[in-house]
Formats: sequence, C-alpha cells, structure tokens
Amino acid sequence: MADRPKLVLAMAPDVLALVLPPALRARLDALADVHPVLVTDTAEPAAAAPLADAQVLLTGWGAPVLDTAALARAPRLAAVVHAAGTVKGHVRPEVFARGIAVSSAADANAAPVVDYTMAAVWFAARRALGTAADYVAGRQPALTERRGADGAVIGVIGASRIGRGVIARLRAAPTGFRILLADPYVTPAEAAALGATLTDLDDLCRGSDVVTVHAPDLPETRHLLDARRLGLLRDGAALVNTARGSLVDTDALTRECATGRIDAYLDVTEPEPLPRGHRLLALRNVLITPHIAGAQGTEVQRLGRHAVDDVERWIRGEPLLGAVHAADLARIA
Ligand SMILES: NC(=O)c1ccc[n+]([C@@H]2O[C@H](COP(=O)([O-])OP(=O)(O)OC[C@H]3O[C@@H](n4cnc5c(N)ncnc54)[C@H](O)[C@@H]3O)[C@@H](O)[C@H]2O)c1
Repeated sequence: MADRPKLVLAMAPDVLALVLPPALRARLDALADVHPVLVTDTAEPAAAAPLADAQVLLTGWGAPVLDTAALARAPRLAAVVHAAGTVKGHVRPEVFARGIAVSSAADANAAPVVDYTMAAVWFAARRALGTAADYVAGRQPALTERRGADGAVIGVIGASRIGRGVIARLRAAPTGFRILLADPYVTPAEAAALGATLTDLDDLCRGSDVVTVHAPDLPETRHLLDARRLGLLRDGAALVNTARGSLVDTDALTRECATGRIDAYLDVTEPEPLPRGHRLLALRNVLITPHIAGAQGTEVQRLGRHAVDDVERWIRGEPLLGAVHAADLARIA
C-alpha cells in the first residue's frame, strides 16, 4: 500500500530477533513499510537513506541516541516507539521539542518486575534467606521463632507503575499484609485509595518487615537508603530492590547484611555488575540476580507487541498507550 508509513527499526541486531518474532514481524509488515536496513548508528552512511524517509522509528535495547545530529538526518520523523522500558537512554529533549510522539513499553516491562518482586517479598516475609543462612550454619529455628507472612508490614518506596502493581498484588494476597507507602508525589487520600498508608520514609524504614524499592533513578533518589536509613530497619527485616542500585548505599547495605541483622534480595546493584569477589556476593542472607526482573527471553516479545500495538494506534491517529511526555521526565524512570 502506497500510504503505509515508512518505518525504520533501530536496536541491537540480537535484540531484534527477541522483540519481533516472525508473527509480530508479519503484523508490523502489514501495517508499515519497514526499511530492510537495521539502524544501530545514525551517523553511518548506510543509515542515511532509511532515516531520510523515516516517519516512525521502532527502537529497542541498543538503539542509537536520538540527538540534534540524528534528528537532522530524519526530517520526516513523527513518532519514536520504544520496544523497551525507559526512553531516557536514547531520546534526548530535542525529540520532544520537535513535537515527535514518543511511546515506551514500560507498562509491558513492569509486569515481570512485579512478579519478581512478589516472589522476593514472599520469601522475605518468611525470612527465607536468613533462615537458610542459619541452616547452613547448623541452626534450625524453633517453631516459636519461625516467621509467617500473615500481617507482615510491607514498605513500598514509590507508587510508580511497578510500585502500584506490587501494592495491588499485596492487597490481593490472603496474608493481610499491611502496606506503607513513601512517595512525595502521592497524597494520603491517593495512597488510601491504593490500599496503602502514606508515610514518611524514615517511618517506613522503622515500621516495615520488608522494604521494597520502586522509585526511579533521579538525582534526588540517589542513596535514598543511606547508612542512617538502613540503620532504622528492624532486626530481621529485609530489603528488596528491583529498581536501581543507585537508590541504595551499597557499602552501608553490605555492612548491615554482614552482621546478619537484615537480609537483602537485589536485582540491581551499584556498581552493576558488582566486581567479582565483592563481599555482598558472598553473604548467604543476600540474594543477587543480574538485573533479570524485567522482560527477558520469551517475555521480550511482550515489549514488541506493545510497540506494534502503539504503531497501529499512531497510524489510526489514536492516543498512544505508552505515551511519554516531556513534562513527566523529571519524576519518571
Ligand atoms: N530490574 C529491572 O529489570 C527493572 C525493569 C523495569 C524498571 N525497573 C526500575 O523500577 C523502578 C520503577 O519503574 P517504573 O517504570 O514503575 O517507574 P515510573 O516511571 O512509573 O515511576 C515514576 C513514579 O515514581 C514515584 N517517585 C518519583 N520520585 C520518587 C521519590 N523520590 N520517592 C518515592 N517515589 C518517587 C512517583 O510516583 C513517580 O510518578 C525504576 O527504578 C526502574 O528503573 C527495573
């Protein structure tokens, strides 16, 4: 069809296969005129022709940065549809300034993070790691020492899309979790509507059995959990971090976990990856996974599906489901 929009794919080659398996690729081909050249570097001579015509860029992990120079090569560009979470890595303010529509698949990426967090919270609420560490050391807790999840207090930092997803799942659980929430952008009434009690971050640290971190990496969230706040956590409490490593002071966390006072379930660290031999990696009451909570493997096509859905909406002139607005950038991931 002559009126189909010109679409260019821009992501790492190995990502493309995961994002657009054959059935999704066929759907995209039916919607748009997809250029055969995959763009990974906008300055390469091979990128000139596809960018000159491109109306839609479908980006993914490994996408090139879209700055003034890249935009100058894409004079017809009207939409950037990202088949991954945050667009902050590659979409520069110039893109918004030019009125180009931007969409991300952060909603699709949030679902597996919520699942991962819930698994960690269930383990943490029963003190699985600390108990496992004791067991390796030859100690078994007496029945009266064992902790159950019923009535546990879960402190959620950030009513982000993932934080809200976690709160919804905590509420649906049969355990009667009590939920505390710390988020400067949420009112007490909004927190109550979510099913949580809005609280100051210090009180959340003091009052929770499990603290789970879901705020974005922003200048003001750096080391939100510093040595002082980690020191406020109850004996036997656990920290779950699936957000970003920068939100937690790694040295202070290592010191707290090394005493056995608190446990930690970490999908993200600072630095990431941790250097081989880092003390945190050797602690039995700390579980560290290498940033796998988001979509991976077979789940990555969820991101592609979200992107193709938004390409279709853009073609129809409908609002984009994953629309990203410049005004929100200072408080979103
Ligand atoms: N581990 C992974 O694989 C993985 C995958 C996706 C996202 N993440 C991370 O998860 C976190 C949440 O992502 P998201 O897409 O749900 O975020 P989001 O963009 O929805 O978060 C924005 C919200 O965070 C809250 N917030 C902002 N500043 C805050 C502060 N100082 N304290 C508390 N809350 C604050 C506000 O409610 C704001 O609206 C981010 O750190 C993101 O990078 C990790």
